[in-house]
Amino acid sequence: VTLGLDLGTSSLKALIVGEDGLPLASASESLSVERPAFGWSEQNPESWIVACEAVLARLGAEHGEALAAVEGIGLSGHMHGATLIGADEGPLRPCILWNDTRAARQAASLDDAQARRITGNIVFPGFTAPKLDWVRANEPEIFDKVSAVLLPKDYLRLWLTGEKVSDMSDAAGTAWLDTGARDWSDRMLDRTHLSRSHMPRLVEGTEASGTLRAGLAERFGLRKGVTVAGGAGDNAASACGVGVSEPGSGFLSLGTSGVLFTPSAGYHPAADTAIHTFCHAIPGLWHQMGVTLSAAGSIEWLSGLLQEKPAALTGALGDTVAEPGRLLFLPYLSGERTPHNDADIRGVFVGLEAGTSRADMTRAVMEGVAFSMRDCLEAGAASSRATRLVAVGAGARSAYWLQLMATVLETEIVLPEAGDFGAALGAARLGRCAATGEAAASVMTMPPIARTFEPSSSQVEAFEDAYRRYRALYPALAALTK
Ligand code: XUL
Repeated sequence: VTLGLDLGTSSLKALIVGEDGLPLASASESLSVERPAFGWSEQNPESWIVACEAVLARLGAEHGEALAAVEGIGLSGHMHGATLIGADEGPLRPCILWNDTRAARQAASLDDAQARRITGNIVFPGFTAPKLDWVRANEPEIFDKVSAVLLPKDYLRLWLTGEKVSDMSDAAGTAWLDTGARDWSDRMLDRTHLSRSHMPRLVEGTEASGTLRAGLAERFGLRKGVTVAGGAGDNAASACGVGVSEPGSGFLSLGTSGVLFTPSAGYHPAADTAIHTFCHAIPGLWHQMGVTLSAAGSIEWLSGLLQEKPAALTGALGDTVAEPGRLLFLPYLSGERTPHNDADIRGVFVGLEAGTSRADMTRAVMEGVAFSMRDCLEAGAASSRATRLVAVGAGARSAYWLQLMATVLETEIVLPEAGDFGAALGAARLGRCAATGEAAASVMTMPPIARTFEPSSSQVEAFEDAYRRYRALYPALAALTK
């Protein structure tokens, strides 16, 4: 029995998984994001602990037996966040999140040939290293007090185990990792006025990182000495949850951000395409990933504005995918990573008219996100294309959206049966590997598939046309924001 803890941007989720690999119990707590200035996105690290205490207490009260049987814990979390820790191991300021773009200038100056060669990636503004340069320039009194920089889930680990540790997949999103060597880069650390002493120890996602503190075990009714695995950044954890652990497989995640993820057996960086090349959570594997920053996040935004739940908005479109509409939407609500690497760009609706309805706007948003995922697919190497993609994330609840995606990506998309196959399951599976020593290949299995979406050949051309119009908009828009 293992426990997966997934620290998401909007909630922390705990999932207990039985011996047979099936979920036994779950609990979640919502989290909020502060946006105190243009492009800023922050979260209070203490709110993660409070949420973790709440889910553990709830699991203890409602599923005490399952919680007491847990042998291993795995962690997953939103990536890239800069959690700055002082000498007393408490946070020095709110965590600067993955979708925060304030460090765009610092990222641009770090992002040179050397950085790309060492890290295998563009230094994106959302990555951790440029954020530390921003803090050094704008909050020097805080920078001087930094004794360690932790990724969000690793701050949770510090509370759980007392250990400062990270895993390879999450560490690869900092711009401090030599991604091919799976080790910190002294050069990249030095360039941001830090050293190895500020970094957590590195383990593979499937390895043990420490054990649960005795006081917490007693307080929440867990066993003594439960192993806490390295775990993973949320994308590598999701891959573990849906059994995406070999080349040719892949997943499409429609969470707040949108991700197209494909594993690779070797390290094949392609930084110039704005594709991410990170370590997988499984030893000896890497993966490529295209990221669009606002996927289901775009629907959430529209939902807030129109005061209607996302499911009601998307449900109103029915089941049959309509031909592309005239209205176009560019989903750059927080800037964009793949393929534009543009922190300043912002979203736009083009073609609003007097008769534009809620449904038209919803459809345009869903199409815009699909086109932005198509951009991610085009940016990836043809050799790393998946033959089918497993759909995950809140947005995958819309069959309309998945059918639309299959056509726009011209790739088969499969939807797992209802259940928990996300990052929390992946984290629990990593916890299992660390606690039992079982091989990743036997633990990271594919879920049963509920539905398959094939590209609709009669619509491919119409969407191809709409995609071309969508592509033409970015340069015009970028010219306006420069
Ligand atoms: C990946 C990324 C997001 C976050 C938040 O590079 O920034 O997917 O991990 O989920």
